[in-house]
Amino acid sequence: MLLRNSAAGKDAVHHPLFARFYARMSQSGEKWMGAYRAELLAGLSGRVIEVGAGNGLNFPHYPAAVSEVVAIEPERGLRQHAVRAALRCEVPVDVVPGAAEALPVKSEGFDAAVLSLVLCSVRDVPRALAELGRVLRPGGELRFFEHGRAWDSGAMAKVQRALDATVWPHLFGGCHVARDPVAALREAGFEPGPYRRFRLPEQGLPTPVSYCVLGTARRPAAD
Ligand SMILES: C[S@@+](CC[C@H](N)C(=O)[O-])C[C@H]1O[C@@H](n2cnc3c(N)ncnc32)[C@H](O)[C@@H]1O
Repeated sequence: MLLRNSAAGKDAVHHPLFARFYARMSQSGEKWMGAYRAELLAGLSGRVIEVGAGNGLNFPHYPAAVSEVVAIEPERGLRQHAVRAALRCEVPVDVVPGAAEALPVKSEGFDAAVLSLVLCSVRDVPRALAELGRVLRPGGELRFFEHGRAWDSGAMAKVQRALDATVWPHLFGGCHVARDPVAALREAGFEPGPYRRFRLPEQGLPTPVSYCVLGTARRPAAD
């Protein structure tokens, strides 16, 4: 297994407080999040790029048919957790510094790409998706598990827009709650589907981050 770590100078994303918070909180959510991560990655094979890998919670869920995962993570603290997670998993994972908007990899080198809870945080969504289109082979698959804008409540969508314009990105490492991941994929030229929308938690009162979507999209086979 080849592992590189944070020797690449200044990090593209610097959220040390959020990184510590996320590394701790996300572990405790894995009892129920694990099933969604397994669903996200089921059936993948070949070379995979995961962008915004965080502390590596997806790594144990990669199927054995995956020959290599290149895991891009810009935040130094989370990347260090990801390096340790990579050492514990069966599939070879190479943890690499970098940002979605300028992926440090060659064009058309990957069979599949994975985004999990990341499009909410990237600075420039169209640029990040254009980069994913560049690094996927023609016909390659993008798997996504994202949260976004409420689809069943105008009031919640309004609250989400207000949060995005004020405190939320500052409190949660650049996260936005009113984005529409599927619309962004379409605008970037991906062909979405199949995918499903659901609320997390599935029962009870929704929060601004409850509106999830999990599924696949394809880079068209011929541009
Ligand atoms: C909510 S965490 C999700 C982490 C992980 N994907 C997961 O499923 O647990 C958001 C992640 O996006 C990363 N991120 C933020 N801006 C990014 C960017 N411009 N490019 C790539 N990753 C980014 C953060 O560092 C963090 O790891």
